[in-house]
Amino acid sequence: TRVDVGIVGGGPAGLMTALLLKRRGISAAVIESRSEETIRHTQRAGILEAPTVNMLVEAEVDSRVLTHGHEHEGTVLSFDGIQRRIDFQALVGRSVWLYPQNEVFHDLATAWQRESGEIHWSVTETAVEGIETAAPRISFTDAQGRARRIEADLIIGTDGSRSMCRKLIPEDIRTDHFTSYPFAWFGILCEAPPTAPELIYANSEIGFALISQRNETVQRMYFQCDPDTDPEAWSEEAIFDHIQQVLGAEDGVQLKRGPIIEKTVLPFRSYVCDPLSHGRLALAGDAGHTVPPTGAKGLNLAFSDVRALVPRVEEFITELRTHAGVADASDETAASSDVAATAVTVETPEPLRRYSRTALDRVWKAQNFSYWATNLLHRQPEETSFTHKRRRGEFDAITDSVHGRAYFADSYTGWSD
Ligand code: DHB
Repeated sequence: TRVDVGIVGGGPAGLMTALLLKRRGISAAVIESRSEETIRHTQRAGILEAPTVNMLVEAEVDSRVLTHGHEHEGTVLSFDGIQRRIDFQALVGRSVWLYPQNEVFHDLATAWQRESGEIHWSVTETAVEGIETAAPRISFTDAQGRARRIEADLIIGTDGSRSMCRKLIPEDIRTDHFTSYPFAWFGILCEAPPTAPELIYANSEIGFALISQRNETVQRMYFQCDPDTDPEAWSEEAIFDHIQQVLGAEDGVQLKRGPIIEKTVLPFRSYVCDPLSHGRLALAGDAGHTVPPTGAKGLNLAFSDVRALVPRVEEFITELRTHAGVADASDETAASSDVAATAVTVETPEPLRRYSRTALDRVWKAQNFSYWATNLLHRQPEETSFTHKRRRGEFDAITDSVHGRAYFADSYTGWSD
């Protein structure tokens, strides 16, 4: 296949990029190592910022976000059983939407396939070559075992937090900014009605819990645990008793319990790759950066990358087409320019350098918020009475002040571009 842009990774970032490029007359082909079914059933976060929702609506992919999603005009922060509401609408005039990421994936994958977009699921032996030349290409084995190739002018790596594309940026050019956390999240799905109308982010002397939602009959909850926790070692009763204790035993919100249908332990880390572009490769989403789950910034950040990237790709492809027109008009034959293309080293195109700079500015704002909210809401393993009381002071300073609440609301609902 010969396309303008080859995309490695068919999650929400890759599919949204492919669809938006197509809307601008730029062709794309997508490959993905997982099966469509696997991605569809992987539980991820469920909160969409307003700009993310706008992209789903404006991409005209028939997303059910406005019909099946739920608008949340605020959220509740709880500390040792004391609750404070953050009123997003009153503070910053924006809402977020509860709409699970697997639904976002479903909407985008359905739209791309309905529009006959090229996509290969369950591929193996993926290799990306020639990102420092004018003829980058992806080779892979498709689900039927056939060796295949995608030739493009640009490769976009949206291949998630264990990205192989990222490693193609040479080590002397790439900086990996990384931090780890001494805890993880235990996530459950249970069959129960919602405990409260809005999400509750809670801290306590036994650590963090988050009461989220999925729909009227299924709920999503998390609590802080050791990274090496075995989910099977926790009984249903122990899980709900623990979360109830985080919320406050008697005076706190009373948890609605029900059969647990999924248990998983989620890792916690922060990572940023700098730069996000090199030669004819650009990274977007988790491939370029990972945030801890507190605040649900992952997908939203991936979509803000895509918003920054798509116009720059258009600029680059347009420039390329203009030059190709000029080259065709000269004596150079197509064959000799093809040979040259695979051999000659190219610089990173200026629009893609600009993409990296703009996207990273927002990435670092979100990294800061996710890191800050994580530390505000979690218990450290070596916690003293000082650490806990100091954090209670921070919680009061934020929630007692309209400025503090506005800072939280502004960050949580997503900054305008
Ligand atoms: C969910 C996950 C998050 O990390 C978060 O901050 C809010 C909601 C969720 O899965 O619903």
